[in-house]
Parts: sequence; structure tokens; C-alpha cells
Amino acid sequence: MIQTISPEKQSKNLFLGVKDVFFEQLRRIEYSILDNQNQVYLDYTGGNLFPKSLVQKHQDLLLNTVFGNPHSVNPTSQRATDLVEETRAKVLQFFNAQDYYCIFTPNASGALKIVGESYPFTCKSSYVLTADNHNSVNGIREFCRKQLGDTHYVPVNQDDLLINTDALFDVFNQAKPDANNLFAFPAQSNVSGIKHDLELIKYAQQKGFDVLLDAAAFVPTSRLDLSIYQPDFVSISFYKIFGYPTGIGCLLVHKSKFDKLKKSWFAGGTVTLVSVASQKKFLTNNHERFEDGTINYNTIPTIKFGLEYIESIGIERISKRVNLLAKALFDELKTLKHDNGRSLVKIYGTENFEKRGGNLCMNFYDKNGGNIPLKTIEKLTSEKQISIRTGCFCNPGIDEINNQISQAEMNDYFMNHENGNYDEMCQFLQKNRGAVRVSVGVATNSEDLEKFVNVIKSIK
Ligand SMILES: Cc1ncc(COP(=O)(O)O)c(C=O)c1O
Repeated sequence: MIQTISPEKQSKNLFLGVKDVFFEQLRRIEYSILDNQNQVYLDYTGGNLFPKSLVQKHQDLLLNTVFGNPHSVNPTSQRATDLVEETRAKVLQFFNAQDYYCIFTPNASGALKIVGESYPFTCKSSYVLTADNHNSVNGIREFCRKQLGDTHYVPVNQDDLLINTDALFDVFNQAKPDANNLFAFPAQSNVSGIKHDLELIKYAQQKGFDVLLDAAAFVPTSRLDLSIYQPDFVSISFYKIFGYPTGIGCLLVHKSKFDKLKKSWFAGGTVTLVSVASQKKFLTNNHERFEDGTINYNTIPTIKFGLEYIESIGIERISKRVNLLAKALFDELKTLKHDNGRSLVKIYGTENFEKRGGNLCMNFYDKNGGNIPLKTIEKLTSEKQISIRTGCFCNPGIDEINNQISQAEMNDYFMNHENGNYDEMCQFLQKNRGAVRVSVGVATNSEDLEKFVNVIKSIK
């Protein structure tokens, strides 16, 4: 039976060590809405919060500029084109990506879909990906399968959730070296928070693979320098970095691999010439080839402001801050025990914080070792206006590993169902699925962490 928190169990000043004058002031100036509305936001990996000044800057721009649809020479069109191109240059500079094209997309999934649709998979191809991947990367296997190529999942280790490199190297060695082979992995897991080894990029390329780096969960709190690591394709969502606007991401494509992507149709804005009489066309020779139709020209300029905002704080500073917060929370949660000595919390993945970002994935247990339902945690946290996330986070591979669900069990489930849902699958398998994800960010303070820990203590 879960009780509500009693005052004597509440702890104060648990997280004094993470107090920081700079970030406290930043919270007051840019994120005052949190305290004004008494919200504890701990879902930064789901979506970052936007600073007040960013919205104000965008509003000022819109109210003081006449924007026309780009791709024309009239003054308002030219103004929009100039700002979009300035923004594109800023994105490339931010990631030190002078060897890349920046293609604006609706989000990271839109970037990943371009790679899936356009990568020249054949029946000889191998699509190799880690079990730790977002569904928008998993989904690319459908494009490979359609061309009769093979998909190989490489496991992550049960104990630390790092990529099993022995298995990975075996799969690389088995691929046909003369085929179009693609390797995809997340720079940071959106579930475990683990930062995977970027050296794998070079290794895969030496083995003849093209590399798709899903950087969506990594770049909000870590520097990605594309002059050092040069994956062939990189997916990003900007709202994850600075919260506003939603609906804009990008695909960075190494210039040397641009022509390898084969566009399967054409649309307005992607061609230099189209003939109806001869049914011929010429595609544009740069990023425009993959930006179908009218881009979000009213809002794309805000991306430049957002990146400048991050630079004004410093991505290394953000990285350090988030690491400190996540480690403090991790250490505190680890100490929580029932009276009989059993742990209340299990946090998945390595304890080495050099390999971790700002999100923690965990489950909670009662004094008999029974799993406390996610719905209970959701209810308790929501009552205190705390936003965390529960479920599989669009990353079923990590969940299958954490909950020790085998390939045979999943095959059995799918063979016996035409369709299904989460709860019903748990019943069929007689297993738990899902976890709680807590993620910290630039506006997180010691009180946020304390409020969350106090709720967790209340279930003891
Ligand atoms: C690692 C990772 N990849 C891809 C995505 C998909 O991003 P979006 O939903 O913005 O397309 C996410 C979103 O949570 C993510 O965390």
C-alpha cells in the first residue's frame, strides 16, 4: 500500500552541492515560468524548455520584418532567403561542420526518414544498428527490407548498457564489403542516458560502412564537433536543444556522401528544371534537393538565435552542469533502501558518469522486491506537479534488455497477434515492461531534485 509523504520523511537541502549562482540567475531570468506555476520539470530529454528571451527575439523579428516565400528575387522573399541561409551557416558553424550540407527537416525523425528513403540499399546490403536506438532509427530497417537487404541488431550489455563491441565487430566482418552498408547508432541513448563511443564512427567507416549518427539526445548537452568525428549522416531536432520552436530539425550530410542518397521523387524547391513535355528534370545540387516544398521560413531564423543562446552559456558549461545534477540524483537515489535493506530503486546502465548525459532510466521496487507499477509513480509525481516520463520512450530494444524479454518471447507474441498494445503484451508475456525516465537540464535546480526524491521516499 502506497502512502502519501509524511512530513518527517521529507528531506531538505539534500542537493546543496549542486547550487550554482549562475544557473540560479539563469532560471530566474529565462525560466521563471517554472516557479511562477510551481512546476517541477524533469523531462528535458523529451523536450527542452525554451528561454523567455528566445521567444521575445522571434516575436521582435516577426513584428519588424516582412517575410515572403523564399525561392524568388522580390525583396521580401530575398529577406527570408537571407535569414534562412544565415541560419544554415550558423548550424554548420555550431557543429564545426564545414564538410556538410545542412538540410532543414521537421524534426530528427524527418531527417532519419530522408536517409531511409534515399540510402541505396540493395539485396547485398547490411543495415547494422544497435539494440539501443529510437524507433525512428529502427524504422529504417523497413526501407532496407524492401530492397531485400539484411538488418542486424547489435546487442548492448545487460549490466552496463554499453554497446557490445565484440558482437558489433563480428557483424561488420560478416557484411559484404562491396555493398552499400549502413551502420546507425545514437550518440546518446534517449533512455539510459549513456553516451556511446564516437570512435565507432571511424571504425565502421574503415570497414566500408556509411555511418548514421542519431545525435538528437546528445547535442542538447554535449559538444558535437564534426571536424573530429565525421559520420556520413547526422539527425537533430532543435526543440531538444533550446525548446523553441518545435517542428524544425536538420539532417547533416557529409558532402562526399550527398550524391549517394538517391531521391525517389521531386517536389517544388528541389529541382532546377522540370519538363512536362519530356518528363525530365534536373535536381538541385545542394541541401535544397531534400527540402520538399516551402520550408518554415518564418521560424527557421529562430534557430540561429537559439544556437547563439546556447553559445552565450557555453555547451561545455551545460554539459558539466547536467552531469553534476544527474550524478547527484543518481547518488541520492542509490542510497534509498527499505527498512529491510532492500533497494528501492534500480537505475539502469553504467555508473561511470564520464559515459553518461542528463537522463536516468529506473524502476522502483517495494520491500518484497515487487515492481511498483509505473502508474503509481506517475500518479504520485503528477500530484506534486512533477513532470517525468514513463514507458519505453520509443526505444523498445533497451526495454527488452532491461526487462529480460527474449527474442523467442517476442516472436511468440507477434505470431499470436494481428495487433496489440502495451498492457495486453505485458499480460501475455507475464512480464513487466517500461521504466521511469528522469532527465535534467539547464533550468533544473536543487529544489527540483529534492521534490522528486521526496516523492520517491514517500513510497517506502
Ligand atoms: C535519440 C533520439 N532519436 C530520435 C528522436 C526523434 O526525435 P523527434 O521526435 O524530434 O523526431 C528522439 C526523440 O526523442 C531521440 O531522443
